Amino acid sequence: MKEPLGILGAGWVGLVTAACFAELGHEVWVRDIDDARIEALESGIVPLHEPGLPELLTHNRERLHYTRDPAQVFENARLAFVCVGTPPTYSGDADLSAVWHLLQEIPAATQTILVMKSTVPVGTGDKVQSELEALGRNGVGYVSNPEFLAESTAIRDFTNADRVVIGAFDEEQGDAVARLYEPLERPIIRTDVPTAEMIKYASNAFLATKISFINEIANVCEATGADVTRVAEGMGYDSRIGSQFLQAGIGYSGNCLPKDVAALKQLAGNSGYHFQLLNAVIEVNELQKRRVIGKLEKHLGALRGKTIVLLGLAFKPNTNDMRHAASLVIAARLLAEGASVRGWDPVAIDVARPLLPGVELHENLLEALTGADAAVIVTEWGQVKQFPFGDAVKVMNGAVLVDGRNVLDPDEARAAGFAYESIGRASLG
Ligand code: UGA
Repeated sequence: MKEPLGILGAGWVGLVTAACFAELGHEVWVRDIDDARIEALESGIVPLHEPGLPELLTHNRERLHYTRDPAQVFENARLAFVCVGTPPTYSGDADLSAVWHLLQEIPAATQTILVMKSTVPVGTGDKVQSELEALGRNGVGYVSNPEFLAESTAIRDFTNADRVVIGAFDEEQGDAVARLYEPLERPIIRTDVPTAEMIKYASNAFLATKISFINEIANVCEATGADVTRVAEGMGYDSRIGSQFLQAGIGYSGNCLPKDVAALKQLAGNSGYHFQLLNAVIEVNELQKRRVIGKLEKHLGALRGKTIVLLGLAFKPNTNDMRHAASLVIAARLLAEGASVRGWDPVAIDVARPLLPGVELHENLLEALTGADAAVIVTEWGQVKQFPFGDAVKVMNGAVLVDGRNVLDPDEARAAGFAYESIGRASLG
């Protein structure tokens, strides 16, 4: 019989973790403080967009138990994954209030191991341990097990993980967590707790650095006549560099990279170290989104009164996640310039609506383009990659296309009559 597991927090990480462990044969107790979310899950509704997740939850519904009551989790499971949100505070630190609240809820005399999946600052494990001692919860252990799942590929990232990182204070507690992952036959890295916590931040910060680096190369390519997509291809063959995360565009967004880069910068600052490189990574990323405006102005002049359509609103394709999405910044900049802004997205419209006041939202691509002066590709959805050049040029008022993701063929765009701009492909522009 497989070890029963607890999941504390039914957000994206919690649900993916629950579904994948249930698929491996574990009984899983999933707890969330949100009644509506628990009710939705019980009736088979998945409150977020992640490919494959609804199917996996349905397939394993007999092994998945949803509850609002933390005691039920601790009664049934000796290992409980902490998957609560740790959003940034005004100071840029991570808000750990959900974690502290959870510790208060652990019933006295509970025997369990808390397995931290939420992204938490280095040093959190030590603080949690002290707090558990202060609360007299001597039967509660602690293991750090950061997640490396990317949205839209999370199920594959879980089952086919590049590595599983386990940081423990106590060898046996680490072994208990390692055993859960053994069936996946993925590399398991065992460390102390602060090292595991740092691996998570350093990995996300490095990915962000790679993106800002290639975006700066793209900007130099524009000035010098090189093609960044071919530069990235040529660099990627070097196995020391690798080909992933070298796609130039409008910068990284989403709930993870921006938040974690900022948190690592603050963490370093709080410890008295000035992390200069991360400052540059953040600044390049902010400017990269705004370069779109200059590209539009190059063809349209002043944007006041012009109608601009943002193609794609979610921070990346195959998700409805709008957190820190580049579309929010670009829309706000365009509105500030006096443009009329429209937004198109196949799945994120409902999530986007309250975040984009003043933006006219559309689910139909051609309808969004009708009468517009220009379109900007913000998110590389499949529908955008198959851009209907012929129909679009007929319904649009102007024919300016800024491809913020370098997904279209410049020759095809120009042959269709578009003034086409992309990122770092000056020799084609
Ligand atoms: C990221 C990491 O990739 C995961 O390993 C990590 O577990 C996760 O954060 C997390 O901390 O939870 P995610 O935010 O889902 O995953 O998305 P990514 O695929 O990393 O993309 C982030 C942003 O970078 C997107 O806006 C994407 O468009 C952009 N990006 C990505 C580029 O601009 N260029 C690239 O070459 C790659």
